[in-house]
Amino acid sequence: EAQIRIMDTCVECSSEASELADIEWDNLGFGLLPTDYMYMMKCSQGGNFSNGELQRFGNIELNPSAGVLNYGQGLFEGLKAYRKEDGNILLFRPEENALRMRQGAERMCMPAPTVDQFVEAVKETVLANKRWVPPPGKGSLYIRPLLMGSGAVLGLAPAPEYTFLIYVSPVGNYFKEGVAPINLIVEHELHRATPGGTGGVKTIGNYAAVLKAQSAAKAKGYSDVLYLDCVHKKYLEEVSSCNIFVVKGNVISTPAIKGTILPGITRKSIIDVARSQGFQVEERFVPVDELLDADEVFCTGTAVVVSPVGSITYKGKRVSYGVDGFGAVAQQLYSVLTRLQMGLIDDKMNWTVE
Ligand code: COI
Repeated sequence: EAQIRIMDTCVECSSEASELADIEWDNLGFGLLPTDYMYMMKCSQGGNFSNGELQRFGNIELNPSAGVLNYGQGLFEGLKAYRKEDGNILLFRPEENALRMRQGAERMCMPAPTVDQFVEAVKETVLANKRWVPPPGKGSLYIRPLLMGSGAVLGLAPAPEYTFLIYVSPVGNYFKEGVAPINLIVEHELHRATPGGTGGVKTIGNYAAVLKAQSAAKAKGYSDVLYLDCVHKKYLEEVSSCNIFVVKGNVISTPAIKGTILPGITRKSIIDVARSQGFQVEERFVPVDELLDADEVFCTGTAVVVSPVGSITYKGKRVSYGVDGFGAVAQQLYSVLTRLQMGLIDDKMNWTVE
């Protein structure tokens, strides 16, 4: 049995952490279920992170003048752990999240954990909460690492102290539609990101920026919003919480990473999976007009996995895809990706970590 360091004591995580939590595993959505432990590690500006530890999950204390609260100096990550039939638990490409957090930290003037520190912290947090990893086929444990300026700062400047924190929650499908196709609306007024801004890093402010358009779209019955570039107002960028792919014949196109689009780890993985399945994948500027005669559209992200798009409403015109929106390409790619993530097929690329 793993030994887990919690604060300064070593706890045998035998019974509590190895049995399954007593919850209704069949109806998981994407909401927070408080779990047992979270991971915390601190660092001063100019210093290095060290002495990370597990603590009981709960509220954290922050100075009202903390950099993250006043000036939004914060990043987050998202990755998932899946339980295999043999009881082992698999992470999917955690070092990619660590690297992305390090790139984001550089943009946001923050120190960041090393890749090894990040991956070790994720493993410790998952093991300490392993009773919350859903049974095979019932969902996954969503892992949410945060990096924030936790030190007090009044004048605009990088905070003097930083906190790296990881919490977890068991999750099922992201959209309320479940596995059914989602309906998007193209946004013409509001933009998610600007050239030279922070759209390409996973900073918390990017997600606050989409709430207004997303709320308006949901009030009208859409699942989410598809954003256009803010310069030409004609190229696809991404959806509030995920990347977008457009299928035409054997060609799958997705907006190129150019600073305003989040470099999704699922996006990158799906590009490789699609190529290995014989598709031609193009990363380029994708004009919004291509939506009008696409065969299929789908979204990718850690939370949404591969979500088929049933319709997109653009300038008042609703375009529908696939047979009832369930496109064959999205289904094929979803199946290969999730079977890899769950350890059901040979992981030739070494993407999973036990
Ligand atoms: C994820 O897919 O993990 C994200 O971070 C997106 C978030 C809005 C749920």
